[in-house]
Amino acid sequence: MAKIAVVGATGNTGSATVKELQSIGEKPLCVVRNADKARQGLGSDVDIAVADLDDRASLQAAFSNVDRVMIVTGHNPKSDVQQINIIEAAKSADVKFVLKVSGGRAVVGPNVESIVGRGHHTVEEALEKSGISWCLLRPGLFMQNTFAAAGMIKADGKMVMPFAKDLKLPFIDVRDTGAVAARILQKPDKHVGKTYEFTGAQSTYGEFAQVFAEVLGKQIIYIPASLEAAETNMRAKNMPDWLVGHMLAIAKLGASGGLSEENTQPIKDIVGRAPRTTKQFVQDYKAMFS
Ligand SMILES: NC(=O)c1ccc[n+]([C@@H]2O[C@H](COP(=O)([O-])OP(=O)(O)OC[C@H]3O[C@@H](n4cnc5c(N)ncnc54)[C@H](OP(=O)(O)O)[C@@H]3O)[C@@H](O)[C@H]2O)c1
Repeated sequence: MAKIAVVGATGNTGSATVKELQSIGEKPLCVVRNADKARQGLGSDVDIAVADLDDRASLQAAFSNVDRVMIVTGHNPKSDVQQINIIEAAKSADVKFVLKVSGGRAVVGPNVESIVGRGHHTVEEALEKSGISWCLLRPGLFMQNTFAAAGMIKADGKMVMPFAKDLKLPFIDVRDTGAVAARILQKPDKHVGKTYEFTGAQSTYGEFAQVFAEVLGKQIIYIPASLEAAETNMRAKNMPDWLVGHMLAIAKLGASGGLSEENTQPIKDIVGRAPRTTKQFVQDYKAMFS
């Protein structure tokens, strides 16, 4: 059977993709830097290859019996170099198809403010020129970003984000990205050369906070942070300059409507169901927030 590899299998989207692939009868290879972490999160019987994104040879060795690769690695100022390592290793190992999780259309480009968005653009170009068949995913803003607010939701009943309370934002659950990705990896032919932008249903952070309140059974106050306050808070947490810059760029893009467009159709077409709602998300992760 053709072997599917997921690079970044211990991450939010990668682990969701692995679980979804398993649920549709595949046995993907999890390409990770930490085998113990992979076994803990994905089960003791998963196939694992240990490789580091900075080590092209380790990636090439991991791909020796692989013909489809998914790339979903985290925010990083050198993620362009790392993901190009994956693409080059895939090419050397004669991989036939690469699925890359990228950023939203407004986030990615050669001259965008965010270093992460510029990195995605560089990788997309490299993939398109690689000669390997490819497909790109552009998911919306992750519901799972609220994990970072779990401490404050739990302790103070507050959610503080650098977005207006009533700004339209179609959040997506990464498990839906995993569901889309798994089906494309299983049968890539009709998806070759396509770029899918997709989101959940349009909502707002004000409504999301209301959903938290209803499901958790306590008051949750949404507080929109100004860009200045958000920056001060991130610097107090010693976040690196590039990440502060990226987060502020996303907040500015959101304020100008760049993240507001809803597009649920690819999930319906590819997975055959509607995307998960914010209510389902909070219900499923209730323990983390209470
Ligand atoms: N957040 C959003 O709202 C949003 C929206 C659209 C698109 N995106 C894009 O989605 C991607 C992030 O997805 P995610 O949140 O699912 O990622 P994530 O949870 O941060 O996972 C990153 C994965 O990369 C692995 N990794 C990092 N450095 C590595 C190295 N040197 N060698 C081997 N593996 C390494 C991590 O391994 P470990 O577990 O060992 O650390 C982990 O498995 C980014 O490209 C981002 O631009 C994000």
